[in-house]
Amino acid sequence: HRTDYNKYYEINRKAARFFFRKLTEGPNPGYAYLRKRGLKDNTIRKFGLGYAPDSWNALMNHLEKEGVTTQDMLKLGLIQQGRKGYYDKFRNRVIFPIINTAGKVIGFGGRALGDVQPKYLNSSESDIFLKKNNLYALNITKKDISSEDQVLMVEGYMDVISLYQNGIHNVTASLGTALTENQGRLISRYTKNVVLSYDADNAGINAAMRGIDIIRKAECDVRVLQINDGKDPDEFVRKNGKEAFLELIRNAVPATDFRLSVLRRGFDFKSDNQVLEYIRRCVPVMEQLSPVEQDIYIRKLSEEFGISEYAIAGEIRADSGKQA
Ligand code: UTP
Ligand code: MN
Ligand code: MN
Ligand code: MN
Ligand code: MN
Repeated sequence: HRTDYNKYYEINRKAARFFFRKLTEGPNPGYAYLRKRGLKDNTIRKFGLGYAPDSWNALMNHLEKEGVTTQDMLKLGLIQQGRKGYYDKFRNRVIFPIINTAGKVIGFGGRALGDVQPKYLNSSESDIFLKKNNLYALNITKKDISSEDQVLMVEGYMDVISLYQNGIHNVTASLGTALTENQGRLISRYTKNVVLSYDADNAGINAAMRGIDIIRKAECDVRVLQINDGKDPDEFVRKNGKEAFLELIRNAVPATDFRLSVLRRGFDFKSDNQVLEYIRRCVPVMEQLSPVEQDIYIRKLSEEFGISEYAIAGEIRADSGKQA
């Protein structure tokens, strides 16, 4: 199988080179777009970004001349079949090549330049491109993740690139899907310290809630960073700079604190019932903790709400009893 795979990786590399040339050789809307988003030429080169021209067959014609068969282009999802024949999948988009830790181009993400839907288009899944087994830009950032002994997991390609350009290199992202167990295992080869740095919206909060379990299964420590200005790490770091983002990393909270703070939303604690309801919701989170950790959070809740530690511990025991 190995030789087969290499053939496909080589075709993807040809496509990546084509997109890169279209972005960097002369004026084009993709370059204008990336400049508007603050990217510098050496960042564009580092990540091998590209531009897919506003054409139905620019890539297809190029690869044909290079001797690539239609069947192979289809298999890689570079072209699609329509009623009137084949056409390029990526058109008038900025291209983010996705490269695995062995340096092979496995797929592409393409961002629309305007409000076209979908905003991001990714290569379709194949045995060459398995989203659940790979993380974005890890080929570039794995060294920094190891040497810093910490990784920042962000949502988007632009978050990775923007942090990187601003001097924060220990960063990666999943490939447009929720974090998977395989991705958790992959990252745990480089560090056991994960900081989830997702967008400051409900989708980001939900992604963090799910991500915590995934990362813990990989036996890593998880903290959650909260963006307090702008909607994602890209916007934050562009506006506030590296030092301010490093401060957010230092302020990232342990997974349990994050979970308890999310559970608090919507409570005003004006009645005893509200306090009781909140504490009952905290119980399943605390049950997952070691006895010593439980003790710490029981004390925190006890101090905050003026309820005895004994009573809170009792709620946890009662609930564990129900499940046993
Ligand atoms: P976001 O919508 O947060 O995008 O989606 P973003 O990275 O901040 O994009 P910009 O800054 O507007 O360019 C986060 C990630 O989810 C995936 C992409 O991988 C994106 O980077 N996504 C998003 C898709 O796969 N398809 C979409 O239509 C939108
Ligand atoms: Mn570095
Ligand atoms: Mn988002
Ligand atoms: Mn963004
Ligand atoms: Mn975002």
